[in-house]
Amino acid sequence: MLKGTFSYTPPAALAGSARDYRHARGADLLARIEGFYKWQNLRRQHGLWPFSRSIDERPGAVTAARDDAGGHFRGVNFASEDYLNLASHPAIRQAAHEVIDQFGVHSAGPATLMGASAHSVRLERKIADFLDMEEALLFPTGWAAACGAIKGLVRPSDHVVMDALAHPSLKEGAAAAARNIFLFRHNSVEDCRRWLQQIRAADAQNGIMVVTESLFSMDSDTPDLAALQALCDEFNATFLVDVAHDLGALGPGGRGAIAAQGLLGQVDLVVGSFSKSFAANGGFVACRSREAKEYLRFFSSPCAFSSALSPIQAASVMKAFEIVEGAEGQALRDQLMGNIQNLRRQLVEAGFEVLGEPSAVVCVKVGAEGLARLVARRLPEAGLIANLAEFPAVRKDHARLRLQVMAGHTEANIRDAVEAVKAAFAGGREEFDWLTSEREKLRAHG
Ligand SMILES: Cc1ncc(COP(=O)(O)O)c(C=O)c1O
Repeated sequence: MLKGTFSYTPPAALAGSARDYRHARGADLLARIEGFYKWQNLRRQHGLWPFSRSIDERPGAVTAARDDAGGHFRGVNFASEDYLNLASHPAIRQAAHEVIDQFGVHSAGPATLMGASAHSVRLERKIADFLDMEEALLFPTGWAAACGAIKGLVRPSDHVVMDALAHPSLKEGAAAAARNIFLFRHNSVEDCRRWLQQIRAADAQNGIMVVTESLFSMDSDTPDLAALQALCDEFNATFLVDVAHDLGALGPGGRGAIAAQGLLGQVDLVVGSFSKSFAANGGFVACRSREAKEYLRFFSSPCAFSSALSPIQAASVMKAFEIVEGAEGQALRDQLMGNIQNLRRQLVEAGFEVLGEPSAVVCVKVGAEGLARLVARRLPEAGLIANLAEFPAVRKDHARLRLQVMAGHTEANIRDAVEAVKAAFAGGREEFDWLTSEREKLRAHG
């Protein structure tokens, strides 16, 4: 597009955030939320709502998708969380087919009431052994595992000390469990220590859970887990680490930052998801005693009162673990890391700021939400499918493009993605500057 030829984009579609609608007021619960749809729809009408897309094919390196207004597009796919491309691995698809023939397609109950299957029982053992923990317990999703582990163990008079950027599943688990929630500065061991000191000086009776992630997927960074575990030991606190994004994809043998920092088997509670590197929906909590497992099985509601993982999911994840820990898994991780480094290098060479450390989530800083929406609008036409992360998912004015790398991306896919980001950014920047100057002219003329 040439300067001045942009179709009119109303300022309201570039301003505001979902946060504006979170605390809706009014007696009618449904009437008071209508503003959100109005704002969302304005964005949708102007091609500025890049969420709720659906996929028309498997989530491969190139795929076809449609936006939630029905618009079709095809492009290189950096929007799927299938880091090792196991979702379409032949051995996993075969395992799923075989288990359908044997068990049907449904778990038919929670794990407490015969919803577990031979496959899920085997998978729990596999996960515990993989992480060098005593036990593991399956949950219907990673969300349920994270939220359920906290809510299952923490009581209202206990304390939760949590990284300020922890995933909503962890924050909502804490909010449902306890009154006393303390957020420490992102990845700051010192700030965490300050809270623990303060809490223990006033309360030696109640429990403390310290919560963090091994890889933060909006910033691609990792805390000093060993230092946090040492703090927990010092202050009689229980340590929970969510490994959703690095397990399988990073670290020695695919065991993530916990293994890289020499902590296998030492963290009190390890919570994870199968949805990133293990080819299925589902999640787990790994713990260091049978006592903890049995307690969570019955006192963590998403495990006790929600249907168990289907045998299809359990068998698929089991096969994924076998691949992850074998030579093929290592080869896939090597390919993935090569792709990550290649993408990051090309983006930096093109002048972009790429956040954090190398991981499967490559976040490209954009800044203002309005600019980021205009950039994201151009990605599909430039041939790239990638996600936009904006406030409140990330800090205000720290919007970013989130590219999720897979082992199966080729050099050409990566080159195409970088070209698309460059084109979308240049066009978005030009339109954003033009809109800003038009608005200033209008303001100057009263
Ligand atoms: C840190 C973290 N925990 C939990 C989850 C939820 O996992 P699932 O998709 O399996 O529900 C996610 C998903 O993005 C996550 O990033």
